[in-house]
Amino acid sequence: MRNPTPADKFTFGLWTVGWQARDPFGDATRAALDPVRTVSELADRGAYGVTFHDDDLIPFGSGMSERAAHIARFKKALESTGMKVPMATTNLFSHPVFKDGAFTSNNRDIRRYAIRKVMTNIELAVELGAKTYVCWGGREGAETDVGKDPVVALERMREAFNLLGEFVTDKGYDIKFALEPKPNEPRGDIFLPTIGHALAFINSLERPELVGLNPEVGHEQMAGLNFVHGIGQALYHKKLFHIDLNGQHGPKYDQDLVFGHGDLKSAFFLVDLLERYKYEGPKHFDYKPMRTESDEGVWASATANMRTYLILQERAAAFRNDPRTKAALEKSGVNELLQPTISSGEGWREIANENFDIEAAGKRGYHYEELDQLALEYLIGAF
Ligand code: GCO
Ligand code: MN
Ligand code: MN
Repeated sequence: MRNPTPADKFTFGLWTVGWQARDPFGDATRAALDPVRTVSELADRGAYGVTFHDDDLIPFGSGMSERAAHIARFKKALESTGMKVPMATTNLFSHPVFKDGAFTSNNRDIRRYAIRKVMTNIELAVELGAKTYVCWGGREGAETDVGKDPVVALERMREAFNLLGEFVTDKGYDIKFALEPKPNEPRGDIFLPTIGHALAFINSLERPELVGLNPEVGHEQMAGLNFVHGIGQALYHKKLFHIDLNGQHGPKYDQDLVFGHGDLKSAFFLVDLLERYKYEGPKHFDYKPMRTESDEGVWASATANMRTYLILQERAAAFRNDPRTKAALEKSGVNELLQPTISSGEGWREIANENFDIEAAGKRGYHYEELDQLALEYLIGAF
């Protein structure tokens, strides 16, 4: 397997390798990471860029001169390594002010403050060359359905995104928003819980063309959903603006494992899909190095994400190019789906008057077992 290079467009959030492993039951097990060091460690390993929440780079509450100093050192690190910042996002979840949400807080001043916090960081994101602005509404939700009207909450959410769309349009910024769905955690239930919910919401906006998705592997899987199908639908609607790759073992708390360290078979078919449909955005790893790891393990896990992607990319291409796969696809009739159901010039009348051998069609076997095993054997390196 070749080594990762910037051309692979692998990116990492500062908060990923920088996670100090504080969890609901225990304290941090690792020291804070200086973003400048993160930039150079990731550059050394072949990454393309880094992403950040405003507060990852500029600690919450910093004064103007402190802020300028943090930005200046970060910029210097980017310049000296060639690392890019293709995406940025806002922390609208850590400070207690956001405990009842940001754009959907029941408190109007908090909602206005949240939008202001986003606008401030968009200015910095644009300055650093970001083209995507992720919005993950971790605190937008509720623990009790009596605490928040879910219909009204969506109207407030819509207001926020309409305003942000107006903001970037008025400013002439070349940046688009990517909503990141998640079903729960930290809220009991989060609004826009899945790819499908978010897609429907986007269509309600004044500028839907400015808003797409940043789906995360584990978030759909936490809800028991098929991530490959979710990405298929995002691609179909041309809304896959960004992607958060990681690993998850089915419906449980958000594990944020290394990519491929959860449902590996799904990861294989995901890479296959992204490559076949030529997804060109950053491949962003949003994961957490295990709490058991020291500094060394953190960087080993960063490399692991990229290696997994590259290995799966190679495995998926070999699978697709093998004549046995082509023959098995043919035998199973997978490519028949490419044929439009209605030929040009046909309408419902032609369908209404048609006859075919239903019994024979019902007897047909589709040979998916053979195909599935072939894919699995490629995945586990049997070929
Ligand atoms: C999660 C989320 C977050 C967001 C990130 C961007 O694991 O719950 O993925 O990590 O992606 O905070 O706002
Ligand atoms: Mn997650
Ligand atoms: Mn994420």
